[in-house]
Parts: sequence; C-alpha cells; structure tokens
Amino acid sequence: MATRVGPRVALDVRHLRKCYGSVVAVEDVSFGVRQGEIFGILGPNGSGKTTTVECLQGLRRADAGEIDVLGLDPRTEAGRLRQRIGAQLQESALPDRIKVWEALHFFSSLAPGGPDWRDVMERWDLGGLRNRAFSTLSGGQQQRLLVALAVVNGPELVFLDEMTTGLDPSSRRVVWQLVRDLRDQGTTVVMVTHFMDEAEHLCDRIAVIHGGRVAALGTTAELIAEFAGRSEVTFSTDLADIDFVRHVDGVATVEQDGTRVIVRGTGPVLARVAAALVAHGDAPIDLEIRRGSLEDAFLAITGDGSAT
Ligand SMILES: Nc1ncnc2c1ncn2[C@@H]1O[C@H](COP(=O)(O)OP(=O)(O)O)[C@@H](O)[C@H]1O
Ligand SMILES: [Mg+2]
Repeated sequence: MATRVGPRVALDVRHLRKCYGSVVAVEDVSFGVRQGEIFGILGPNGSGKTTTVECLQGLRRADAGEIDVLGLDPRTEAGRLRQRIGAQLQESALPDRIKVWEALHFFSSLAPGGPDWRDVMERWDLGGLRNRAFSTLSGGQQQRLLVALAVVNGPELVFLDEMTTGLDPSSRRVVWQLVRDLRDQGTTVVMVTHFMDEAEHLCDRIAVIHGGRVAALGTTAELIAEFAGRSEVTFSTDLADIDFVRHVDGVATVEQDGTRVIVRGTGPVLARVAAALVAHGDAPIDLEIRRGSLEDAFLAITGDGSAT
C-alpha cells in the first residue's frame, strides 16, 4: 500500500455543475472532505447546497464535474455507495403511521452488517418513543429519528441537510452532541446548514457556497481572520488628545464621539491600545472589544453586508 501523506480524503468534488432546465443551481463547486471531519456547507437560501449534496449522494445526476465519494462515482456506482453512506431523509419520505422501531428496523434491514438498530435507538434516545407513530412525534423527535435513520446502517460518511431546522434550542444541542459523537467514532459528516452558530460549534471546516460556487473555505477561525479580521475596541477617556492611538501597531481607524472612542484594527489591538492608554496616564474601566464573528465573515463573503 502506498504511503499517504496527510489525512485521508473521504470525498473530492471538482467543478460540479447542475442545472434544472434553464436554472443553473450549481455553477462550479469544488472541495474536498477529509476522513473523520465534520464538514459544513453554509450558504444563503437557493445557493445550491442541497443540489450539491444530492449530486454527491447519487440522488441527482451532476451535469458535469469529477466526483469521488469514498472512492466511488455516484453517477455510476450509486448502489454501492448507498451501502456506505448515510443520508438524512426528508419528513415526507416516511409514512405517517410507521412506528419508531419499525422505521429503524426497516432501514437497518436494507444494510445488513451495520450496527444493531436497537443500539442506535438507545443512543439517539428514541427507546421511550419506540411504539409511537411517526406522525405523533414532535418536530424535534421526528428530526431526531430522521438523523438516527441516516446512521442506522453504520455509514462511513453521513450527509445531513438542515438537520436542526424546527428544533428547539435544547434539542439542537442534543443533536449537535450526537453529531460530535458520530465524528469521534470515526464517521465523516457533511452537513448543510444556514445557522452560523451551528457551523461555528460543530464544523471542523466550512465551505461557504454562494451563487452556485464555493466563495470561501476554511475553519471558522480562518474565515473570520480572512473576511472579518478587524476588531473594534471601544472605551471612554478624559484625555484631550488621543492622537497617539492612531500610531499604535495594528490600528486602522480611530473615531471619537465626545469622550467615547472607537478604534478599529487587526491583531492584538486591544492589548496594544490598552498599553498605550496606560502609558499616557489613562486606564479606562469600560475598555471593550468586539471581534469579527462567523456571521460577519459570512456577510462579507456573500456580499450581503459590508466588511467591518
Ligand atoms: N427540483 C428543482 N427544479 C428546479 N429548480 C430547482 C429545483 N431544486 C432547486 N432548484 C433551484 O436551484 C437553486 C439551488 O437550490 P438548492 O440546491 O435547493 O439550494 P439551497 O439548498 O442552497 O437552498 C435554486 O434557485 C432553486 O430554486
Ligand atoms: Mg437546501
């Protein structure tokens, strides 16, 4: 076996393109997912996220591009691929009257050799609901079942598309932890979301898709550093002349409104501004910093806001 350099790749897609009639849903998407990571696909509504993951799963046929998922091409080897990946179903895919245990049992029987469906039921905290019909479950419980069904075949790679939509905050946290557990057990996760906090808490790396293209790719920290790297330091001061602040390393702009000062800059600007103030005989007690967030980066990338 050849020696591999770096982490192994679970999925690689190059120049994916998919149209629906005259609508170009995915223009040109390329990215790679490493084995064992949680990879997030973030983007505004209609940016092509679902179409992309459907093409990767072999649920839709890409018009163009090279796709390698676990060494298989979803266009020609969808059957084999389906044995090794997990896909989150849409609610409409389950009959109303199917019971929780029946759904788990049925989907696990489609993939012999996977884990015991009863273990999956317990792990996803569905044991107490085992005899409930799907239509009688709350939105959060239904969502939990749909995610559990995605992993009941013990997949190497699982695709989750807006898995926490409709969940209350505590159910979201529970699902996040289960997804982390999956990753920690070695499953690669590709998840579509439009929630910044979800991407930030969960994803090892994130691709931001905008207008059918990958507009940015990296860890949360990398995206913030590249697209929202400027911090804002504010404080009040009685010093009459604060011109020295403009010359502090990393400071880009200084705005003064009465005694209130807003400093924008990059790097360890809070520490440097604080040190300069102290050196000039002031030590403001209300010194605060606001760092760029993933949302700031997202808005800068997708052009729906101005960069700070
Ligand atoms: N089955 C379909 N037929 C026609 N157009 C579609 C279909 N599914 C999606 N689209 C269009 O393709 C674009 C991308 O959609 P989608 O991949 O669902 O985006 P996202 O998941 O990012 O919201 C949108 O303009 C959407 O209206
Ligand atoms: Mg979608």
